[in-house]
Amino acid sequence: MKKTWWLILVTFLCLLSSSKGRDLKAMDKVNLPKYNHTLATILVQYASAVYLSDLTALFTWTCSRCDGLTEGFEIIELVVDVEHCLQAFVGVADDPHAIIIAFRGTNEHSLQNWIEDLYWKQHEINYPGMDDAMVHRGFYNAYHNTTIRPAILDAVDRAKKFYGNIQIIVLGHSMGGAMAAFCGLDLTVNRCEKNVQVMTFGQPRIGNAVFASLYSTLVPNTLRVTHDHDIVPHLPPYYYYLPSKTYHHFPREVWLYNVGLGSLVYRVEKVCDGSGEDPTCSR
Ligand SMILES: *[C@@H]1O[C@H](CO)[C@@H](O)[C@H](O)[C@H]1NC(C)=O
Ligand SMILES: *[C@@H]1O[C@H](CO)[C@@H](O)[C@H](O)[C@H]1NC(C)=O
Repeated sequence: MKKTWWLILVTFLCLLSSSKGRDLKAMDKVNLPKYNHTLATILVQYASAVYLSDLTALFTWTCSRCDGLTEGFEIIELVVDVEHCLQAFVGVADDPHAIIIAFRGTNEHSLQNWIEDLYWKQHEINYPGMDDAMVHRGFYNAYHNTTIRPAILDAVDRAKKFYGNIQIIVLGHSMGGAMAAFCGLDLTVNRCEKNVQVMTFGQPRIGNAVFASLYSTLVPNTLRVTHDHDIVPHLPPYYYYLPSKTYHHFPREVWLYNVGLGSLVYRVEKVCDGSGEDPTCSR
């Protein structure tokens, strides 16, 4: 199972790094920043580095994945919740000049539990202050009900003292993407941060349709990067025949996929908008 996980992340790395970096036309109507492939290529490296368990190498940014596009990154805080197997970091990057918050996905053992949880359980809870918006209890708790949130917010405050109101980019892979989404919303709603960008890789669905729609209004600069062989973005399953019960992706998605043609492999990037459950996208 762990191997599969890594494969997915490595696939992301490969797809992103070897792609041509074409910026896509997207969301002109609401004036959102366009998908920036160069930026995604940089950010996926942070999403990958946060998986490493050598905390010293992470803290000094000398880890095996701490070079190249992320060289010179300054870690403000490494956040580890041993009890819940969670890990994240907050730091400041030069390019993009931003506070970067990265969340790790699950480890091998709890991944099994998560997949089962996502398939079989529909534990939804009301998102505080948002009528009818329901979210996945597990993901909500992983961010809001562990030692992660206070440590992240504290580190962001410290970074801002030093660097001022620079952009905040929140990211993560898989379940880390789910936590990143909650964190981006938290910063926007509870901390009144105005310049928050969320980019997730292979993120599962985290809330119902009301939540997804409110989310994209509140945190418009949010993008899910998805790869078609990855199972996680299809979880929890989308039940088109049960609209009131189903989980729903928030709208902006870039879908990276390969189309094999003999020995040729084409890579296509597609920006899916609309409801977030565009049938031509990862659904
Ligand atoms: C895309 O992101 C890169 C990396 O942050 C940045 O240097 C570049 O200016 C961005 N491009 C656009 C069109 O915003
Ligand atoms: C937060 O965690 C505590 C202890 O594990 C639990 O009792 C509580 O129900 C959790 N909160 C939510 C909103 O699920």
